[in-house]
Formats: sequence, C-alpha cells, structure tokens
Amino acid sequence: MRILITGGTVLSSTGAVQADVLVDGETIAALSAPGISWDADKVIDATGKYVLPGGIDAHTHMEMPFGGTHSNDTFETGTTAAAWGGTTTIIDFAVQAKGTTLQSTLDKWHSKADGNCAIDYGFHMIVSDVNETSLKEMQTCVDQGVNSFKMFMAYPGVFYATDGEILRAMQKAADIGGLIMMHAENGIAIDELVAQALQEGRTDPVQHGLTRPSALEGEATSRAITLAKVTGSPLYIVHLSAAEALNAVAAARNTGQNVFAETCPQYLYLSIEDLAKPDFEGSKYVASPPLRPKEHQASLWNGLRTNDLSVVSTDHCPFCFNEQKELGRGDFSKIPNGIPGVEHRMDLLHQGVVAGEISLARWVEITSTTPARMFGLYPRKGTISPGSDADIVVYDPQATQTLSVETHHMNVDYSAYEGMQITGKVDTVLSRGRVVVEGNAFHGSAGHGQFLSRELCQYLN
Ligand code: URP
Ligand code: ZN
Ligand code: ZN
Repeated sequence: MRILITGGTVLSSTGAVQADVLVDGETIAALSAPGISWDADKVIDATGKYVLPGGIDAHTHMEMPFGGTHSNDTFETGTTAAAWGGTTTIIDFAVQAKGTTLQSTLDKWHSKADGNCAIDYGFHMIVSDVNETSLKEMQTCVDQGVNSFKMFMAYPGVFYATDGEILRAMQKAADIGGLIMMHAENGIAIDELVAQALQEGRTDPVQHGLTRPSALEGEATSRAITLAKVTGSPLYIVHLSAAEALNAVAAARNTGQNVFAETCPQYLYLSIEDLAKPDFEGSKYVASPPLRPKEHQASLWNGLRTNDLSVVSTDHCPFCFNEQKELGRGDFSKIPNGIPGVEHRMDLLHQGVVAGEISLARWVEITSTTPARMFGLYPRKGTISPGSDADIVVYDPQATQTLSVETHHMNVDYSAYEGMQITGKVDTVLSRGRVVVEGNAFHGSAGHGQFLSRELCQYLN
C-alpha cells in the first residue's frame, strides 16, 4: 500500500517546508517537492494543513493499580484515545509491586498490552523494591528494551524509596546506561502534613494541594539531582509542576549535568483553583504533584522555551469520578491520584502555539522528536524522514473544537478540560503506514500496535 500525502506543510523540530510525503508499507519512502507525481494507492489531500510526526506520549498509566483500584483505560481504550488525538506511540509504566521481581512485572505488563494496543508502545519500569535481585534485573530489563527506571521520593509504604535505595539504583543505572526517572516530592514531610490536615478535619480535595507544597517538590528535585551527581547517573524528572523544581533542574543543566525534565498539560493549563471546586468536583483534579497556583504556569512555559523542560507527556492516569474518585469522599488522601489526558496533549500544546508561547517547531520537538531521542526511538519515531516509521499526523490548524466528556474517547466519565475551546484539530493519523483516524472515523484496531524495544537515551554526554 502506497499513500501520498500531498499539499501540506511538513513540520519538524527545525522548521516547516512545503512537501509531499510518500508512504510505502509501514515506512516513509520519500519527501518530495510539492506536485511531483508518484504512483499511490491512496492520496490524502493535506492542503492548508500541517503534516507532522506522530506524537510520542512518554508517560502513561493504562490499567495501573493504585489506591485499591485501577486506572480505567485499558491498553485498548487508552491507545485508541491516544490515536484520536494524534499520538502514535506511548511509553507506559510497568509497576513492580513490593516482593516481586522486575522480570515478572515486565512479563505481566507485556501480557496486558500484547495484542491490545492500537498504536506502538514501550515500557518504563517502576522500581519499588530495591534489592540485590532487582538491581541485577535492571540489566536484563535494558537487554529487553526497557532502559528507564522510575523511582519515587513520595508515597511512603507504597512506592517510596529511601535516599540510600535511590543511590544504589542510580549507581546501577550509571553502570548500564539506564535512565533514572524521578517522582520528586518529599513524601515523608508530605505524609506528616496530610496527617495533620486530617486530624484537624480538613478533608476536601483542595487539601491534597495544600499538603504538598511546591517547596517540597523543589527540595526533592534538588536532592535527586545531588544523588545523580554523586553517582554519575543521568536523571529525568517526571511531571515537573513547580517553579522551584524547574530552577533546580535549570541550575544543574547549566553545569552540564545530565538532568532532563518533562512537564504535563495539566500543569500548564489547570491550577489549584480547579482542586478547590466545590461538591467534591475538585477530586477530578487530584494528581501528584498537585496542580499549583497559576503563577507557576508562566515559569513552565518559559522552561519549555529554554529547553530546561524538554518533553511534555500527559501522565495519563484516568479514574472515573463515580466510584473511583469517590473513594476519597471525606478523606482526600484516599482519592486515587491521576488526571486523564492522553487524547488531548497535541491539541493542548498546539494551543501554546496559537497563544504565542512556543513555536510550531518547538511543538513538534517537545511532543515527538525529543521524546523519541530521550527514550531511544529516534529516527524510527519522532521525524518525517525516509526510512522512519510512517507515524504521521495531518493536523488542521484552522479547525475548532470543544473538549468534552461527550466527545472524548478515553474511558473516563469526566473531562479535566470540559468546555475548553481549542483551535486546531487532528484530521488524519497514520500508524506505521496504516490510516487509523480519518476525519470522524476510526479505522485502527487492537493488536496493530507493536512493542518497541528501545535503545539507550540519545542525549547522554
Ligand atoms: O497522580 C499521578 N501522577 N498518578 C500517576 C502516578 C504517578 O505518580 O505518576
Ligand atoms: Zn509520579
Ligand atoms: Zn505518572
């Protein structure tokens, strides 16, 4: 099957050109001057539209066990929703439960995802039990294309790792070329603040934000950076939400340390005011780190421009309002942590282009090209180049849409962005050469998506 995408503006992380794109089978065969005639089985008219590499969402949680329940998107529903929104690759987190091995965890996540994904996918590994076996197994994970390891300075008693455990895992990562991903919040101090709030009868969702102050994200981020420096390990801060944390990342990067960070759309567009919505509505916005006061948003946009924030991922972790978020009525600490968003990342970041916060090239870079390089997928993914996978989005920058639970495809009963007006809309999506979204029709299927065995991070110096 040969597909010609004609008449569009092809975007990359370095700019935009008028070009036609020829797809042959699963890969891109050529970029050519507009109007050259090619034999093709199908022609997609992209006149007036952007043609960009498929989005890579490097931080999702499908079917993730958390707080006695599971995030509500399966690999099938979540990857389908991702495709609708122009994301053609996800990297999801396999979660080691304490007392289990990394290998059994990986096997379990493969069995959840295998045959069920509509787009390609990879895994990171959450290491929550640091011991001789799991440290050895980090190498076997790398051998199987899973070379990024998330650790938690938050959630004592669940995922939390001590500084000593983090140090040991970082030493191992430094040895084997692994990348440590850090959930940087001071969980010990936070748990104390949470206990005090509950003791004083402060139980509403907004307390989730008030008991996790941004200074404790800044402190943990600095500590993680110091541990990474001591061990020589590269470090990637996940879901960075606070100006204090960004300052710590920027300072480390200025010294040449291998420190990277991502933020998420919710920290760019939502705030603690959403967490404070009455009638338990605020629970829809409970995630960790929490939504911050609005002032942090300007710092985050600036970090995206300076590249101190180099990736935007969603941290998609959907829990329904009914029955799931409701587990925390009367006790905010029991609200499952997570916000849905895998479908809206490309649109929300395009909104940043419309608002003049970032350039078109930067939009492509932070949503596709850099995640591909960061997580060892480039140039197979993250670029429209001959030989690359034909993961392509045709995007209509003039179309308008309103985000809503009524129209989204994520398996969750609310939208965190309900009623938000967006300029721009996905028109057509190709996943490895197959048209999976065309206008209002979905042509993808579970099982089309393949596991991506990833190379090492391509930014290490
Ligand atoms: O609240 C969040 N972020 N839930 C998902 C788990 C995590 O820490 O990334
Ligand atoms: Zn986290
Ligand atoms: Zn997460």
